[in-house]
Amino acid sequence: AIDPQFQESREQVGEENGVAVWGPVDEPEELGIRGTHVAVDYDLCIADGACLEDCPVDVFEWVDTPGHPESERKAEPTHEAQCIDCMLCVDVCPVDAIDVDAG
Ligand code: SF4
Ligand code: F3S
Repeated sequence: AIDPQFQESREQVGEENGVAVWGPVDEPEELGIRGTHVAVDYDLCIADGACLEDCPVDVFEWVDTPGHPESERKAEPTHEAQCIDCMLCVDVCPVDAIDVDAG
């Protein structure tokens, strides 16, 4: 499961599409955690897609990640600022790749 303390245990190494990248990153095999309020561990995500289907405010968008061992696309929390903290994505992800910091 994603480490809910990732902001302490990892360092932000960049930004992609306006979304924070928390390392370590070693592309294409290791992609880190993406997002802050809504965070997705790309190294756990298997592209199940339940988060994209179920999020009531369409926070997520697919991004291609060719060469990653778990899946060739990931759910990016592109619109995390729209999140209404319903926690549905956290509940439906089969590999517990998502953390929402509802404060
Ligand atoms: Fe969308 Fe709810 Fe997840 Fe926020 S907590 S990203 S609103 S499904
Ligand atoms: Fe990935 Fe979990 Fe969404 S596997 S696509 S973060 S439901």
